[in-house]
Amino acid sequence: MNILGIESSCDETAAAVVNERMQVVSSVVASQIDLHRVTHGVVPEVAARAHTEKILPVIDECLRRAKLSAKKIDGVAVTYGPGLITSLLVGLETAKALAYGWNVPLIGVNHIEGHMLSNLLVPRGGRRLVFDKKRLPIIILTVSGGHTELYALRDIGNYKLLGRTRDDAAGEAFDKVAKLLGLPYPGGPAISSAAEKGNPGRFSFPRPMMSARGAARFDFSFAGLKSAVAREIEKFEKNRARSGLSQQIIADMAASFEQAVVDTLLAKASLAVTENKAKELWIVGGVAANTRLREQGRGLARSKKISLRIPSFEFCTDNAVMIAAVGVLRLHEGRASRQKKLMQATNGLPKVLRTLEADPNLDLVQVG
Ligand code: KG4
Ligand code: ZN
Repeated sequence: MNILGIESSCDETAAAVVNERMQVVSSVVASQIDLHRVTHGVVPEVAARAHTEKILPVIDECLRRAKLSAKKIDGVAVTYGPGLITSLLVGLETAKALAYGWNVPLIGVNHIEGHMLSNLLVPRGGRRLVFDKKRLPIIILTVSGGHTELYALRDIGNYKLLGRTRDDAAGEAFDKVAKLLGLPYPGGPAISSAAEKGNPGRFSFPRPMMSARGAARFDFSFAGLKSAVAREIEKFEKNRARSGLSQQIIADMAASFEQAVVDTLLAKASLAVTENKAKELWIVGGVAANTRLREQGRGLARSKKISLRIPSFEFCTDNAVMIAAVGVLRLHEGRASRQKKLMQATNGLPKVLRTLEADPNLDLVQVG
């Protein structure tokens, strides 16, 4: 079985093929970073136009690299939310057209579930991960440009939301602080490399919501942290007659900010592990590519004697492999036959093609 995944929820146009063993057959990502660097952030209309131009060439290239003809594709999985509505529509409508033309099931995938289950991808020669029910729940820290959430995975498709950010997402904070420091977009990798030469103890930035109790104990807030960096920059600029920040100050601020984010994320993840008696922690999403977070996450896992899984770098940021992977799991769950029936409707369009709609605010689960 080969599933084609399509992802266009934000600023990457991506297609991938994943097989029934959860192995990556091919993956193509067309990044729009150069376009959005100019505006230091994503302009939805610009992103949507780039998706429209790139989507078919990206899918073509993906099938070419997979050495597969369309006949060998058994289903199309596509992100239908959350994300930018204009961007989502490009991928979704393309996926519908392909599923209809090829007469294969169409599987709508939640982008966040894609990030979460990217941890189940199997490297070539590796063995498929079998869930040991005794090791559940697994705590998942989802950290990306649009999301910062803690979940307890009770089974595939069964996620309990423990907490989420009340304002900016962690990746968004990286992007905004990078702008303040005069570093390029996207801010995550830029801050991370500036921070390598910095002293994380030089500035004592706040660790937001660390003392929150009750239902708020798993929530995050990064807007205040960003303002604290802005205030510190202002102080320096005033004192030095606006001569600009030295490379060392930028490095120290980047490292101190990064450490504050990592401390907050890991403290909340650690609390969730303890309270849920979890034996495993996953960290997923674009910010999971952060080296400090990965290293200190490993330290946390060692001290708590739990397992830690983080996707390889290339599968942390947006890609279509994670979307195809969810498609494979869904078809394995036995929904394939139902989907097939839906696709075989005789009069008019198959139902799934009429009912699956892009949802920019798609939730993974209800709070509770
Ligand atoms: O998952 P993703 O590609 O897209 C969303 O679903 O949002 O995440 C993108 C975010 C951006 O905010 C980017 O700055 C951040 O992930 N990011 C990083 C790193 N690489 C990407 N943040 C910190 N350190 C990194 N190395
Ligand atoms: Zn994402």
